[in-house]
Amino acid sequence: MWPYPKVIAHRGGGILAPENTLAAMRCGWEHGFAAVEFDVMLSKDGVPVLMHDPEFGRTVPGIGRVADTMAADLQTMDAGKWFADSYKGEPVPMYADVVRFCRQHGIWMNVEIKPSPGAEEETGRVVAEQTQALFADVAVIDAVHLPLFSSFSFSALMAAKNAAPTIPRGFLMDKVTPDWKARLQELAARALHTNHKYLTPDTTKEIKDAGYGVFCYTVNTPERAAEILHWGVDAFCTDRIDLIPADF
Ligand code: G3P
Ligand code: MG
Repeated sequence: MWPYPKVIAHRGGGILAPENTLAAMRCGWEHGFAAVEFDVMLSKDGVPVLMHDPEFGRTVPGIGRVADTMAADLQTMDAGKWFADSYKGEPVPMYADVVRFCRQHGIWMNVEIKPSPGAEEETGRVVAEQTQALFADVAVIDAVHLPLFSSFSFSALMAAKNAAPTIPRGFLMDKVTPDWKARLQELAARALHTNHKYLTPDTTKEIKDAGYGVFCYTVNTPERAAEILHWGVDAFCTDRIDLIPADF
């Protein structure tokens, strides 16, 4: 059984706010979303921060890499202006601050571990260790409130498993490949996260019958959401939090 929310706001606030910022989490929450997905990578000094791209340029102005930048400097960078002037000055948030915000507001988290190239194992380990510390009070008795880690990086998830085995994992595969079950078994994962564009009803059934959850990204029309849920997909993230309500 899938114990987590069914509809998840992608990157915090979908299309309505600058991705992977605290403002995005707040926006999702104000739209009734008590479940968010966001991306986490490490700064130069090994601090988990919210960021999708390993390099600056798209959401943060300038040239450079997150992995070459200290966390204190990332906190002064503008991750909001690219989206709208009204978000000017919205900083790159620290993961720990986002976790605190989400916990205060009762928001469940799908934490996508998004390592900079070459930092896969370190990122998985550090994110897992920090998460375990931030959730030390709920680690055993109320596991449904723990975040669900996911990653396209098998080695990052394996490192997360070794560092914090009680925090659940979902393996991200753009297309479901024939080795999916072996991968999930190695990770002791509870779900497969996959691109809905390549998923079929038969594959959904196969994964579900094997006892795993199925999570799809990124589903942006109510019609497609209804279709995949009918197949048995357990949950999906969406950019269109304006079109697809949290209680869809
Ligand atoms: O975790 C689902 C989805 O976020 C994966 O793709 O590139 O949006 O992080 P991306
Ligand atoms: Mg993501």
